[in-house]
Amino acid sequence: MSPVALSKSLIALAFALSSASLATAQVTGTFPPVPLASKHFDYPSGIPYKVDTDVGLVRGTQLGYNICNSTTENQDSLCQTSWFDTLDDFCLWAPSVPGKTVGDIEGEMIAWCTKPGHGTRLIPAGALTGVQFLKTPDYIQAVGFIDQTLINMVAGDYGGEMDPHGADLRGNPMGGIMFSSSFGAASSKSSSGPTSWAVTLSA
Ligand SMILES: *[C@@H]1O[C@H](CO)[C@@H](O)[C@H](O)[C@H]1NC(C)=O
Repeated sequence: MSPVALSKSLIALAFALSSASLATAQVTGTFPPVPLASKHFDYPSGIPYKVDTDVGLVRGTQLGYNICNSTTENQDSLCQTSWFDTLDDFCLWAPSVPGKTVGDIEGEMIAWCTKPGHGTRLIPAGALTGVQFLKTPDYIQAVGFIDQTLINMVAGDYGGEMDPHGADLRGNPMGGIMFSSSFGAASSKSSSGPTSWAVTLSA
């Protein structure tokens, strides 16, 4: 085989491979059959490995997983099951890798928590420099100051709003769920918080 013939066959192989991966990634729609905000799971036994199993939708597939335990509890965790409860026990949504703004990867954020026990990454010591926790009959809220670069956010990034809706109803992050015991036993059955949740970060 001459060198010229060889390079022709290599090119053909490369083309075949890329058409195969294009076929796998074919987009057939935007909206899921069931919106994230309509999904509810018993905590913890009713949680599936992935809450979002949709394939072929325009925003791709869920980055992480929802069954989170001691095996997934490390700084490489891709756990997307969040916990939001008290002043010293809550999680934020933040990027899994540094270098990308929240606006670009809001569908792929993962849980970072203040304390162990949720199978997630931990917010590093020293990152939170002040937190105020508000508890009302209808909602709970944490407001505070954080060195956001310690949870993989770009310095100066204004963040975004994470909630279980999003333009395509798959939520941000996609497949993200949140639990709390702050509203009694019933709320621990809820997927997306008691009724809804929103986490907004701004620099
Ligand atoms: C721990 O979590 C991983 C990842 O979701 C899962 O594969 C594994 O089955 C879980 N282990 C137990 C004992 O639930």
